[in-house]
Amino acid sequence: MSPFLLTRTLPEDATESALREDVLHGLTRSPKTLPPKWFYDARGSALFEEITTLREYYPTRAEREILVARSARIAEITGARTLIELGSGSSEKTRHLIDALPALHTYVPVDVSETALTGAANALVAQRPALDVHALIADFTRGLALPGTPGPRLVAFLGGTIGNLHPAERAAFLSSVRDLLEPGDALLLGTDLVKDESVLVSAYDDASGVTAAFNKNVLSVINRELAGDFDPAAFEHVAVWDREHEWMEMRLRSTTAQTVKIHALDLAVDFAAGEELRTEISAKFREGGVRDELAACGLELTHWWTDERGRFALSLSTVV
Ligand code: SAH
Ligand code: AVI
Repeated sequence: MSPFLLTRTLPEDATESALREDVLHGLTRSPKTLPPKWFYDARGSALFEEITTLREYYPTRAEREILVARSARIAEITGARTLIELGSGSSEKTRHLIDALPALHTYVPVDVSETALTGAANALVAQRPALDVHALIADFTRGLALPGTPGPRLVAFLGGTIGNLHPAERAAFLSSVRDLLEPGDALLLGTDLVKDESVLVSAYDDASGVTAAFNKNVLSVINRELAGDFDPAAFEHVAVWDREHEWMEMRLRSTTAQTVKIHALDLAVDFAAGEELRTEISAKFREGGVRDELAACGLELTHWWTDERGRFALSLSTVV
């Protein structure tokens, strides 16, 4: 018997039908795009974990520094009995928070990646046998049905993953989080901050090529799930800073003119030489912008903490 509860809120075939829809829509428009959630099969989740250890990729270290320094204060302010974590991945940094919350009864990690979720939940129940762990396989952009758990509830959305959503998606997402919260509950949000372009570009185009492999992994996911014939070697990894929107963008640039077949969709996709497929944005924030986006969705930012070097922020907000 599993030592933790695992609930799938997505029907078994929902992932495949959502992928079909996203690939058909994204590869038949101009410019071509794919949503970043499809990076995270077992290999993609492992590659992301490797990214977090890279010298160039500062967000994980910066956010951990804040969690180490501030978890006790977060515990004092929230008194959380349930911790719900969206896009929890390995739940690695979350341990600092879990250990600091004396009243914590239930931890609800939510992720689309079943391998990341079960790996994290297994490790946690082994280390914290008294904690109720209720893992949820779900897409956090598609309306969350959460288990009934004791309040106060703290919803954590760490890593800067909110930056992977476009502004309109962020507004819809934050409103849906707002609807989950009751007075006394709180949202803990991790946001990466605007900084020097060179630091940002290195973080998304590391010298050892792990981010490039992570980016190209989406092509392997399509090959496997939808019988595609993408040749990942015929695409190069591109990371650019969009100064106007203040986001990093990852793209895959076709090195030649080529036609890719996706047999499960009966689709042939032409790429011109040099044509770019957009695979991810990673927005970088300023305090005022975060405050305003939260306020527009009925949330009031009450605390703002950064790491010593001002690279990353954790904020706490409550329902207005
Ligand atoms: N929170 C962790 C992991 C960040 S990586 C950290 O800070 O290190 C982003 C995580 O969000 C991945 O585990 C990925 O599978 C998950 N994810 C991405 N899009 C998602 C979505 N729409 N719904 C649920 N999980 C998602
Ligand atoms: C998960 N997310 C916050 C990461 C980011 O930095 O936007 C994903 C990532 N993309 C490239 N490297 C890491």
